Amino acid sequence: MKINYVLPQLFLGIISVLNFVKPDADPLQDYCVAETRNTHNMFHNGQPCINPRLALASHFSTSALSKCGDTGNQFGFNVTLTNINNLPGLNTLGLVMARVDIAANGLIPPHSHPRASEVTILLKGSLLVGFVDTTNRLYTQQLRAGDCFVFPKGLIHFAYNIDPVKTALAISGLSSQNPGAQISSMATFMSKPSMPDEILKKGFKVNGQDVMRIRKNLGG
Ligand SMILES: *[C@@H]1O[C@H](CO)[C@@H](O)[C@H](O)[C@H]1NC(C)=O
Repeated sequence: MKINYVLPQLFLGIISVLNFVKPDADPLQDYCVAETRNTHNMFHNGQPCINPRLALASHFSTSALSKCGDTGNQFGFNVTLTNINNLPGLNTLGLVMARVDIAANGLIPPHSHPRASEVTILLKGSLLVGFVDTTNRLYTQQLRAGDCFVFPKGLIHFAYNIDPVKTALAISGLSSQNPGAQISSMATFMSKPSMPDEILKKGFKVNGQDVMRIRKNLGG
């Protein structure tokens, strides 16, 4: 192959790889403190910004993650997120932070974030975490306080508090302003309107009674 043929190929290859790993679009200015009022009829990829001269240090700070979330729900976990309302300075920066409280033996059931990778540090307790890749291979680890784990973008993952007595506390960073979350069981059995029973029966190899029981157990 001649060099004048290889170089453009190489260039295109590098460009396409860069495109594949691109996070949220880069901001065009230092910051874009979210203008959260009067924008109900406008849709942007993110929120518009206030005039930078009106930005305050407090726009870049929040106490939203300082309080323990209420874990008294069916799975025993609570995720508190920063967002453009409680932390308007994160607008367009391509990230959020989450406080994750998990009750004793509580579970964050298998779920995925379609727009974000997630890195978690366990601050208190012990967690069994894992994700499944697109070949259905499971990667799992038991974390102790201080340990980190990373969940690649879009892959189904879980976190289980293996301690029968103590709650667990973790902090996660996610690589999107709007990571999105889809819990596998809820998305399939609790969608609105419901997926046809036939789809669930055939898809999960169960019968109609199983479908009803799972729906009921999930609160349907
Ligand atoms: C999480 O905790 C907050 C604050 O205690 C509470 O308002 C919210 O309902 C909880 N969410 C779930 C899903 O239990």
